[in-house]
Amino acid sequence: MQHVTSLSFLLLAYSNYLSHANKVVPCGERTASPALLKQLAKRQVNYILGDNPLGLSYMVGYGSRFPRRIHHRGSSLPSVAAHPARIGCKAGSRYFLSPNPNPNLLVGAVVGGPNISDAFPDSRPYFQESEPTTYINAPLVGLLAFFSVHP
Ligand SMILES: *[C@@H]1O[C@H](CO)[C@@H](O)[C@H](O)[C@H]1NC(C)=O
Repeated sequence: MQHVTSLSFLLLAYSNYLSHANKVVPCGERTASPALLKQLAKRQVNYILGDNPLGLSYMVGYGSRFPRRIHHRGSSLPSVAAHPARIGCKAGSRYFLSPNPNPNLLVGAVVGGPNISDAFPDSRPYFQESEPTTYINAPLVGLLAFFSVHP
């Protein structure tokens, strides 16, 4: 989702610029209006939140179906309350390789997303699909802030 969130944020920012400048983008036989760019960005956000072929939200904790095995140490290791003893650097493998869902939810985290086949393995070792990152999530915050005020 790193490209999706970044490009959608840029589309939205450019859409706002075009609106204020009272301009459109000629694009071959079509014209990209500010409204069209905004609509594209919104469709991408909706896809991330569950409006997609799998009916899966790629944001942890959002909706009833979301990634359960994200590639995130704090999510997949037991909490200190459940496991007070130290877990060494290499001792996390049994949790990493477990088929069980993560014991801790990183609510709001958006993961890498579906692969090229629009499928999602929901498996920790598939880090490109299951890892949440700052560069995926940061641009999405801007999009969500905008669309929460301008639905
Ligand atoms: C995409 O993920 C699905 C589900 O895990 C898997 O069966 C498929 O082989 C993957 N496709 C590619 C191109 O990696």
